[in-house]
Amino acid sequence: MAAERVRVPITPATKVADLLESWPELEEVLIAQAPAFRRLRNPVLRRTVARVATLEQAAGVGGVPVRELVAALRRAAGIDSAAPQGETAAESASEASTPPEWLDPGRVTSTLDADALLDAGVVPLGRVNDQVRALGAGELLRIDSGFRPVPLIEALGKQGHRCFVRETAAGRFETFVDQARQGPGPGPLHRFFSADHLRLDDLLRRATEGMGPVDLALFGAFRAGLLRHIGMEEKVLFAAAREARGGEPLPIAERLRVDHGAIAALLVPTPTRALVAQVLSILGPHNRREEEPDGVYDACDRALGRAAAERLASELREFPEPPLKPYNDGPAVMGHIAANLELARRQWIESDAGER
Ligand SMILES: [Fe+2]
Ligand SMILES: [Fe+2]
Repeated sequence: MAAERVRVPITPATKVADLLESWPELEEVLIAQAPAFRRLRNPVLRRTVARVATLEQAAGVGGVPVRELVAALRRAAGIDSAAPQGETAAESASEASTPPEWLDPGRVTSTLDADALLDAGVVPLGRVNDQVRALGAGELLRIDSGFRPVPLIEALGKQGHRCFVRETAAGRFETFVDQARQGPGPGPLHRFFSADHLRLDDLLRRATEGMGPVDLALFGAFRAGLLRHIGMEEKVLFAAAREARGGEPLPIAERLRVDHGAIAALLVPTPTRALVAQVLSILGPHNRREEEPDGVYDACDRALGRAAAERLASELREFPEPPLKPYNDGPAVMGHIAANLELARRQWIESDAGER
């Protein structure tokens, strides 16, 4: 008796080959979604790209929204047609419309026809890698294709190459690949948060310039910006890193949170030069720990991977400043500050001693 066919669930994360093996009747449904999917009849593609490409990537290749693609397949499979929620990375990762500054078509010295290769039964990635390796400094490769080469672009991105794809006519795509690799330099989240540190440092420096009282307008902007910065780290950055690590938080995140508590406490009363000095005494080492090589920002970039880190950094630009309470100089405030500063200082003394 034939074993009952294992039916894989149909979600954006389902591999194309798994789908076609477990739901062979869906092949025509899939192909009907976009002309580019006709290539799935190609046995070479079936054995290679389709094994690693997800439906989400396939949606990008075919230029169809992943939700619609998954919904159509689920409908045809007779399972509830609603696409699972919250899995729309391919949609949000749609190409940028403005060409990046490095893209100068005059620098293209090598081209490759992906359709011709596939027709000849060759998967383009190996050939693309060879041609990219052969490029000289500043030179670009252009890949022409009748589909958006999403898996190829993701593979090149993981190797550190910059890519840009544009649709030149209906169903015709040009993908430019830069020879330069993005070195192991700071990732997108590291760059985003370090730039925000610089912006906040500058606001605080200007708020305390001269010998007079602290400039309340500039300090107010610093206070709002720093509380936003802390909110972005705790609510978004550390949370995303924990999720990417399968629920395991970054070991240092808890101590950085304690620092954040002390910093936030120092922002409660009306600022004085003495309070600003206290803020700087915590914030200086705190920011260095976040920014140093292999510090928490690098760890977050690594945990998320380039594409997701890039996406998160661009979403964070829209993160709002929190609503601010007026300054509070009540009797309990100074005790609250002292307790939080003590916790923050002691934890680093203990952890530094523990490392020796
Ligand atoms: Fe922080
Ligand atoms: Fe920070």
